[in-house]
Amino acid sequence: MTDVGIVLAGFGNVGRAFARLSFEKRQFLEKRYGLRLRLRAVFRSTGGIRLGPASAAERLLAGDAARAEESPLWNPKLRMSAPLTRGAHGVLVVCTASDVHTGEPGLGLIRMALARGWHVVTADKGPLVARFRELRETAARKGLKLGYSAAAGAALPALDVGLGSLAGTEIAAVEGILNGTTNYILTRMGQGADFDTALREAQAKGIAEPDPARDIEGLDAAVKLLLIANSTMGLDLRLDDIEVAPLAGVGRRALVSAAKRGLALKYLAKVQRETRKIRAEVKVSAIPRTHPLFGVDGTNKGVTFLTDSMGAVTVTGGKSDPRGAAAALLKDIINIYRS
Ligand SMILES: NC(=O)c1ccc[n+]([C@@H]2O[C@H](COP(=O)([O-])OP(=O)(O)OC[C@H]3O[C@@H](n4cnc5c(N)ncnc54)[C@H](OP(=O)(O)O)[C@@H]3O)[C@@H](O)[C@H]2O)c1
Repeated sequence: MTDVGIVLAGFGNVGRAFARLSFEKRQFLEKRYGLRLRLRAVFRSTGGIRLGPASAAERLLAGDAARAEESPLWNPKLRMSAPLTRGAHGVLVVCTASDVHTGEPGLGLIRMALARGWHVVTADKGPLVARFRELRETAARKGLKLGYSAAAGAALPALDVGLGSLAGTEIAAVEGILNGTTNYILTRMGQGADFDTALREAQAKGIAEPDPARDIEGLDAAVKLLLIANSTMGLDLRLDDIEVAPLAGVGRRALVSAAKRGLALKYLAKVQRETRKIRAEVKVSAIPRTHPLFGVDGTNKGVTFLTDSMGAVTVTGGKSDPRGAAAALLKDIINIYRS
């Protein structure tokens, strides 16, 4: 049995879902993978809780985890440096919401964890966008793992397929419906809902970004595209290299008229190798019935890889909610210890 210390940064939608999921699955993880996850500490922006005996963790998770500050274990002075002790191997699970330009606050936390010999898995895209190469190189130099499936499509296994199943192929293009919120909005508008109602529904499902402007202005899809394309196509794109047109402006009439012509309007994110350059964009596109992403509706996501030797390979589905993101974090942790 391998004991894995877990420090959890961020206790919002995804952080709580992760704590709950890993607690629910503790016996399965022990039996199937020989892994015993030990939640050592949980942090919010205002402090944290350091967990000692398993019973304390159980109490926290069994109750309303959102009210962590009411726990007798709550410590507003607790700093991440305390549980991230050097030499004690474990995983920092990053569920903060960081600025994509500075990468903070997640970037500082990830740097600290790697410097102290901890693996990192992150749902937070900000640090990766700001310092992708630096973080990957630091982790590799130190023999540590940096897992970011949860930031690059979460339950949609885009990276697993692109990096694992397509090994040895050269990928000429990646095309995806990478944002569940905007796909849900387009689907609901096609069914007659107005934009604001559809967005509110997506927020109620917990799938919208903490700031939903990130979804509807295309930033979330652009960031996922960046992570998937840079990882699987060996590129070094920056956010500025991606042309992004916001979702706003697409009305019901356009959706209905496209449907009459056998087309579907989708908020597509695409990177393509052209003769002399790389074209990268996120925009509403009309796709025909024959397109592999045509039927990807609602909160579903999907990605198609155009390869030189395996043809077009598409993966679709995967839950688009905090529990799906939590499951992707858990998968990355399992794969760290499996390898
Ligand atoms: N929601 C999804 O389905 C989903 C899917 C994939 C990826 N993601 C990504 O996952 C991340 C979390 O999303 P969310 O929906 O869980 O956001 P959220 O509900 O806003 O939670 C963010 C958490 O981060 C905490 N935090 C902020 N600064 C911190 C700091 N310096 N140290 C420790 N904790 C800090 C916040 O503390 P307070 O509680 O004190 O505010 C809060 O608990 C985001 O980066 C998001 O893009 C979300």
